[in-house]
Amino acid sequence: MTHTSEQSNFDLQPEDFGEDFVWGVSTAAYQIEGAHEAHGKGISIWDEFVTKKGTIFENQHGQITCDFYNKYKEDILLMKSMNIDHFRFSLSWSRILPDGTGKVNPQGIAFYNDVINFCLECGVTPWVTLYHWDLPQTLEDLGGWTNRKVLEWFEAYVKICSKHFGDRVKHWMVLNEPMVFTGAGYFLGVHAPGKKGLRNFIPAIHHAVLCQALGGRLLRKMVPGAIIGTTFSCSQITPRSNSKKDLKAADKADTLLNRLFIEPSLGLGYPDESIPVLRKIKKYEKPEDAQNSIFDFDFIGVQNYTREVVRHSYTVPYLRAKIVKASDRNVQTTLMDWEVYPPSIYEMLKKFNAYEGVKKILITENGAAFEDSLKDGKVNDLERTSYIQNYLKQVHKASSEGVKVSGYFVWTFTDNFEWAEGYYPRFGLVHINFKTLKRTIKASGKWYRDFLRKKEQKEVFKTKKTDVPIG
Ligand code: GAL
Repeated sequence: MTHTSEQSNFDLQPEDFGEDFVWGVSTAAYQIEGAHEAHGKGISIWDEFVTKKGTIFENQHGQITCDFYNKYKEDILLMKSMNIDHFRFSLSWSRILPDGTGKVNPQGIAFYNDVINFCLECGVTPWVTLYHWDLPQTLEDLGGWTNRKVLEWFEAYVKICSKHFGDRVKHWMVLNEPMVFTGAGYFLGVHAPGKKGLRNFIPAIHHAVLCQALGGRLLRKMVPGAIIGTTFSCSQITPRSNSKKDLKAADKADTLLNRLFIEPSLGLGYPDESIPVLRKIKKYEKPEDAQNSIFDFDFIGVQNYTREVVRHSYTVPYLRAKIVKASDRNVQTTLMDWEVYPPSIYEMLKKFNAYEGVKKILITENGAAFEDSLKDGKVNDLERTSYIQNYLKQVHKASSEGVKVSGYFVWTFTDNFEWAEGYYPRFGLVHINFKTLKRTIKASGKWYRDFLRKKEQKEVFKTKKTDVPIG
C-alpha cells in the first residue's frame, strides 16, 4: 500500500549542512547506459541474467534503458541546469575489458574519457564506482566472485581504470553494496548471476571483502590525491517485539545487513559471534587475509532507504530471523514495499560514525520509487520531494550532533532499470519515457534544483567578492 505523505515543512538550506558538503546524484552503468554490445563491449552477468525467462519483471532488460551511452551529454547538461555539481556513476568492467581480463577495449576507454571530460567541462565532479554489480560473464563462467582468482582479475581491472582515468577522476568508490550483490546474486539467486546457497555465498563474501580493500590500496598507490571510499547498504533493524527470540533475530539481521562488510575493513574481523555459520569463511582464508581485508578509506558511502522489522522464525536456517514485510505492517511504503522511515538514516549515520576508524561518511544513495504519472508534460511527485526532505532533516540532525557526514547523493538522476523489478519502480528526479527516451524534470527534480540554487548563488557571490581587486 502506498500512502500519500504529508508535505513537510522544510526550511533547511544547503549551507546548513556545512560549507564543503557535497550534493549530487548517483547512478550505475547497467541501469542507465544501454548499448549492451556497442563498440566492442563484452557481455556482463546482467546482460546474461536478463535473458533468462522469469528472472526480471515482465522479462525486461537493460539493453537500451536510458541510452546514457548516446545521451550522456544531454544528461550531464540537464544535471548542470539543475545545479547538480557531483555525479556518481559506475564503470562497466566488460565495456573496458570485454573478456574481464586481458585485452583492453579502446572504445570503452574512449567512452568513459568522453563522459569524464564532459563532466569536467561542465563543472560537474565525477565520482566513480569501480564495481556496481556487472561482472564480465567470462569471469562468471570461471566461478565469478566464488573464485579466489577474482582478486587477480579485479587487480588488473583497477589498475587499468586508475591508469586511464586517475589523472582526472579524484573521487572513487571501490564496491557498491557488497552485501546486496553477494546476498541477492550468490545466496538468494534473485540477482545476477542467479547462484544460490551457502557454498556460493560464503566464498563470495570473503573475496568481496578482500577486493574492497585491495581496490583501495591500488587506487591509493596509483592515483595521486585520490579520495577513496566504498559503499554499504544498511537499514535500521527493529525487533518486532522485546521477546528474547525477536531480539536475537534482530541482532543477527543487523550483523548480516549492516556489519558484515565494514568490520573486516576496519580490522575487526568477521562478526561471527552473532552468526556462527560465518565461521565457514575460515575455509577460504589464507593467513595474510585478515590483514589484507583492512583499508583506511577516506570515506564510507552509506546507502539507506528504509528500516526493517525483524522477528524470530524457526524456518529460516542459520539466521532464524525473518523480515516482517512493510505491506503487512500498515505503514507508509514505496513501490518497492519499503517502509518510508526517515529516522533510519539518522540511526545508520550514528552507527557507522561510532566505528573508530571511520573518517568521514557520505550518503551515496537515498531515494524512493513512487507511482509517478506524466500529465501535461509534468510529474507532480510530491511524495518523492517530501521523502527526500524528511530524510535530509534526519541527516541534518545527525550532522548537528557531530556526525561526520559530508555529502548526499540522491538515488537517482533519471528513472532507470531497477534490476529484478525492471522499469516499474521509478526512482528518478527526472522522468524518462522509455519509448521515446524523452527526459522530463519531475517536481522533485525542480525542488532539488531550487534548493541547490541557493548554494550556487552563494558561491557566485563569494567568487565575485574575492575577485574584486584590492586597492
Ligand atoms: C541500491 C542499488 C542501486 C539501486 C537502489 C534502489 O541497492 O545500489 O543500484 O537499484 O538500490 O533500489
